[in-house]
Amino acid sequence: MEGEDSSSKLLSLSTPLYRLASLGKLLQLESHPLFAKWEGANPTGTHKDRAAISHVAAAKRDGFGAVTAGTCGNYGAALAYYAKLYRVKAVIYVPRLYENSRVAEMKRYGAAVIPVDGKYEDAVALSAQAARENDWYDANPGGPNDHTSLASYSRIAYEIAAQLGDAPHAISIPVGNGTTLVGVYLGFLQLYKEGCTTRIPRIVAATTAHANQLAASWAKGSLEPVKLPASEVRETWVNEPLAAVESLNAHEALKALHCSGGEVYVFEDEEMVEAALALKAVEGIAALPASAASILALKRFASLGEAEGPLVALVTGRWRARR
Ligand SMILES: Cc1ncc(COP(=O)(O)O)c(C=O)c1O
Repeated sequence: MEGEDSSSKLLSLSTPLYRLASLGKLLQLESHPLFAKWEGANPTGTHKDRAAISHVAAAKRDGFGAVTAGTCGNYGAALAYYAKLYRVKAVIYVPRLYENSRVAEMKRYGAAVIPVDGKYEDAVALSAQAARENDWYDANPGGPNDHTSLASYSRIAYEIAAQLGDAPHAISIPVGNGTTLVGVYLGFLQLYKEGCTTRIPRIVAATTAHANQLAASWAKGSLEPVKLPASEVRETWVNEPLAAVESLNAHEALKALHCSGGEVYVFEDEEMVEAALALKAVEGIAALPASAASILALKRFASLGEAEGPLVALVTGRWRARR
């Protein structure tokens, strides 16, 4: 995977859009074509590849000695992968007690992994501090290079519009910080403003019931992020990518939800695992349970009777059976 040629090829990541006809039937969504934007096709299995490759390329271009971020696992694995490809040092901060942190994989790619005694937000804070102190490239959500993450996730909207021939009626996105959601919304907004699509999709957020700042703020009807007591947040092997005391892009994400006529739905771990099992059994797609929440959210959204066209769920890979 080393070398300039392979890295420039990967700069144009794109993923398939699968029609989920059988699952749609099972979920009684026949009147609205259901699709999965299959981010599991990315080299490290999630949409985090998109931000990671852009940040690592920018760090390389601007001559930074290292790239750093805090992660619950997927983003760190992606950063480590592209850092190896571009021959940039990666320093990844990971909460010590997280179960799906993909640490072995990051180390295999040559990244330095710093275990953190704390939550995801502590890992991000320590990484951002190290970036300031050592003049490393800060690839953290909500950090100085956030625009790069948003631009890379906005490509998802461009791909979907090209694959469907228009924007879908609604797109459902698994949410932790809300970075992906904001990027996708901005992509669709731009497409609409350019006259390339006939609508801006309704943005549907799917997340954990235990707990997420964005969901808590939305439930209170607040477009400003509300404070969430850390004691309310319970991370598990299923919800780690979604649990957030602070959703680092909550402000913009709440605006995107509000402006698009969107909704937020929260799910228990068992529901997400069941949805992942159904996706595998019925469509042969091996999804990460946290990301299968996006399918459940579309089901709830459609049950309001407001769906009027294609529904797209963003789904990522890396199914890990619990031993
Ligand atoms: C699989 C998966 N889904 C969703 C998310 C949440 O994405 P965001 O923080 O952009 O909202 C993450 C974050 O790492 C993730 O790994």
